[in-house]
Amino acid sequence: MCWKVAQSPQVTQLFAAPGNPGMAELAECIPWDGNVSQLAEWADREGIELTLVGPEAPLVEGIADAFEARGLKIFGPVQKAAMIEGSKAFAKDLMARFGIPTARHKTFSDVLDALSYLETTGAPIVVKDSGLAAGKGVTVATSLHQAKQAAANILSGPERAEIVIEEYLSGPEVTVLAVTDGITIVPLLPSQDHKRLLEGDTGPMTGGMGAICPYPLPPGVLTEIVERILKPLVEGLRAEGIVYRGVIYAGLMLTDEGPKVLEFNARFGDPECQAILPLLKTDLLELALAAVEGRLHEQRLEWHPLASACVVMAAPGYPDDPHKGLPLSLPPAPPERVLYFQAGTRRGPEGLLTHGGRVLSVVGLGEDLPGALERAYAGVAAVRFEHALYRRDIGRKVSLAKAASRGGETDQPKA
Ligand SMILES: Nc1ncnc2c1ncn2[C@@H]1O[C@H](COP(=O)(O)OP(=O)(O)O)[C@@H](O)[C@H]1O
Ligand SMILES: [Mg+2]
Repeated sequence: MCWKVAQSPQVTQLFAAPGNPGMAELAECIPWDGNVSQLAEWADREGIELTLVGPEAPLVEGIADAFEARGLKIFGPVQKAAMIEGSKAFAKDLMARFGIPTARHKTFSDVLDALSYLETTGAPIVVKDSGLAAGKGVTVATSLHQAKQAAANILSGPERAEIVIEEYLSGPEVTVLAVTDGITIVPLLPSQDHKRLLEGDTGPMTGGMGAICPYPLPPGVLTEIVERILKPLVEGLRAEGIVYRGVIYAGLMLTDEGPKVLEFNARFGDPECQAILPLLKTDLLELALAAVEGRLHEQRLEWHPLASACVVMAAPGYPDDPHKGLPLSLPPAPPERVLYFQAGTRRGPEGLLTHGGRVLSVVGLGEDLPGALERAYAGVAAVRFEHALYRRDIGRKVSLAKAASRGGETDQPKA
């Protein structure tokens, strides 16, 4: 987001809070411990004209409310609206009320109730921590034992917790993001994340190990997603007095019965954001301003006619116990059609060091998906980062399906 906003001719000064060494090349980084009212006070003092929110925690803490209370412009939903991400139980209730297609579910806060319910469902079944879990709170259980363990793990902790137990769905997964001002909905190009740590979609869940964009949706499906999912959400919220301004992230499964919602997020998802924004020709600052000022109907999006692929390089030990402080170095100039976006890094006396689970996103651009993947992996090869974890099969399913169907009657991926 910082990289994209920095390209806007309207920017006079750009700050990142707290930022990282990658953002420090584009913006002035200011220290921030996550306190939303402190940041609002700072922005007020500095006369910040527009703030864009990246992560979910401050949204759920009410950063938009704190800024709006001071009359400051902020691109991101208010707390009540951000609850579509902050509580999966809340989101499921909304979907039920608004008739949005999603997996059948039940919510539990009592462990014994959850365990006896699981006896009636059997496996496969999906157990989700209702609250924010950095993408690591979901178990797609293939056995009853695994499901019970996941439920017990979340519900028997000291804190008050809640889980959603939902029907297992199958089909290809796709992410559709949309920008909205609470009335107009502007969908972005569809993309696809890779949630599992290991190749072949195996291993533990992660925050996301890579993404491709655009994901080739079958004809008519994007319209169906807007009409049956995004519109009912935005209009339903508005009818309940909640105006959603910002990005809506719909995580979807393309089932035999049509697209169904796995979850909503209240922001650009990561790593989808890294794959989508390099393809956007439109000025993101202008788009965000139009959303904040309620004039999104004036906006038409323009896209570069390219494909992109993002490969995440994570620290060894991710997701459970990522090693911090490992050296890492990027080439002085990125290879052609390669972009590096830093995540969990910090600058040490000798250079960059790992400072989190997902360390770096490497994005490749190409005329088509195979071309984009070739550039992304060339970008990965140019990074010095020993023992980095990354998947070599990002985008492979879609490129294979496309290749298999070339010359056939459809160029859409197989389910
Ligand atoms: N009902 C479901 N059926 C099958 N797989 C699911 C279901 N819900 C979620 N998943 C899988 O688990 C992943 C994480 O679930 P999600 O609800 O998106 O939570 P989060 O992104 O917060 O971890 C999804 O990307 C999908 O691969
Ligand atoms: Mg998700």
